[in-house]
Amino acid sequence: MFKWWQRGVLYEIYPRSFQDSNGDGIGDLRGIVDRLDYCASLGVDALWIAPLYPSPMVDFGYDVADHTAIDPVFGTFEDFEALIAGAKARGLRVVLDYVPNHTSDRHPWFEESRASRTSVRRDWYIWHDPAPDGGPPNNWLSQFGGSAWTFDERTGQYYYHAFLEAQPDLNWRNPDVQRAMHDVLRFWMRRGVDGFRVDALWLLIKDDRFRDNPPHPAYRLGEEPPHHSQIPLYTADRPEVHDVIAELRRVVDEFDDRVLIGEIYLPIERLIAYYGADLEGVHLPFNFQLLQTQWHARSIADLIHRYERALPPGGWPNWVLGNHDVSRIATRVGPLQARVAAMLLLTLRGTPTLYYGDELGMSNVEIPRARARDPFEKNVPGLGVGRDPARTPMQWDASERAGFTSGEPWLPVAPDSSVLNVQVESEEPTSMLALYRALLKVRRAQPALSIGRYEPLAMQGDLVAFLRCYENERVLVVLNLGGDPHALSLAGIARSGRLLVSTHMDCNDIAATSDVSLRADEGVIVKLDS
Ligand code: NOJ
Repeated sequence: MFKWWQRGVLYEIYPRSFQDSNGDGIGDLRGIVDRLDYCASLGVDALWIAPLYPSPMVDFGYDVADHTAIDPVFGTFEDFEALIAGAKARGLRVVLDYVPNHTSDRHPWFEESRASRTSVRRDWYIWHDPAPDGGPPNNWLSQFGGSAWTFDERTGQYYYHAFLEAQPDLNWRNPDVQRAMHDVLRFWMRRGVDGFRVDALWLLIKDDRFRDNPPHPAYRLGEEPPHHSQIPLYTADRPEVHDVIAELRRVVDEFDDRVLIGEIYLPIERLIAYYGADLEGVHLPFNFQLLQTQWHARSIADLIHRYERALPPGGWPNWVLGNHDVSRIATRVGPLQARVAAMLLLTLRGTPTLYYGDELGMSNVEIPRARARDPFEKNVPGLGVGRDPARTPMQWDASERAGFTSGEPWLPVAPDSSVLNVQVESEEPTSMLALYRALLKVRRAQPALSIGRYEPLAMQGDLVAFLRCYENERVLVVLNLGGDPHALSLAGIARSGRLLVSTHMDCNDIAATSDVSLRADEGVIVKLDS
């Protein structure tokens, strides 16, 4: 039997940017509730909502000051309950962000921990004496620039933070931390959430001997953020992390039918360990390969092949095209290939995750320096690492603030919002939104696409092609990643087929001959005759 999170499609909402309901320029829970009909009509199955918890917002919610409450900027508990009820009424699941690696430095746990060396919560965080010269204990670097250690004057020790100084790392080797954080999962599951996306999962455990990370030989100074200058051998992907994850999974399994999804930036060979040796790890270790690979037919075909082969028996695949930390797909590959990418994402075997606004073809928005909000951009300027460009307000209509807010939006609205928006695109039969709706609909209608087997087809040049097969049904997907037309003969595959969707959206649902003709930058889904 397939689970909802295997058949279904996830949709990431970055709540600050989805819909503002009270005119403060920041999206909120009421706003999401008001847009639930849109989410349901899009055809997704579950909403993953980035952190909603009380936070000083130094990292926009990823600096949690209380794991079991709602930040007033997003609303109240009543609003949260309205969201859960409204989602359930429409058959939508809700997945929350769970941020276990670190808290805000304003979290009462950290305030207690830093109060004295003998505090009962001292060992809830990672404290270390200075090096003999008084400097940081070792060479570990923060992902947001500078040392990962900050000196605390009052108690004369350093604390470790994989991200900002305002985000001290919890000590997951401490069983009390584990218990407290397990209760956080239970708290939200009792309130009806269907699962969690776990932040920075591969970083939870650090080396207990605090060994220096080795230098990275291929580091390009001035082109990459400073932490890339090291191989994170002792700060990431430590073997003991899997025991911690198995415990998280046990807690999630106390409740029916929930899902655990891990944020893990690792190569395929390391990533698959997060399913657990006996599948006792996370259900879905996020597969970010499409965010990182070159957009060429050969590299994509190769990576699908490597991923499919590496998956453990029973491990369910998943694919991601965008999220709030990376450049938008339309900017990475251009607007034409973004349509091909949408078809790829929604026809590959495994759970797809969509990022809000990608279904409209939203691109990165240039943010004037004075309006930069992302701490990564502010700490490491000039390298283009800032994440604000991919976090701009959702584009609902052609009005001045795109229907996002009646106030001043926290990040600028895209200049193309008068043409790329839900209202306009809903009227255009060939729009990106129309394409996404068609793809989501066909994925739902054809079990071969959601739960069928994957069979690659050998292709030349710019084409990627594969079959998805379920019982007697076979669906062919052919994607042209290049700018020249190609004809593909069905000889040896099937007698004929029916064209279900073209990314050009001008010839859907027509009987094809025994050839499939692909125009430049076109992808097609063909239902094969048996
Ligand atoms: C990953 C999150 O997606 C990102 O936005 C955040 O800054 C870091 N983890 C730290 O929590």
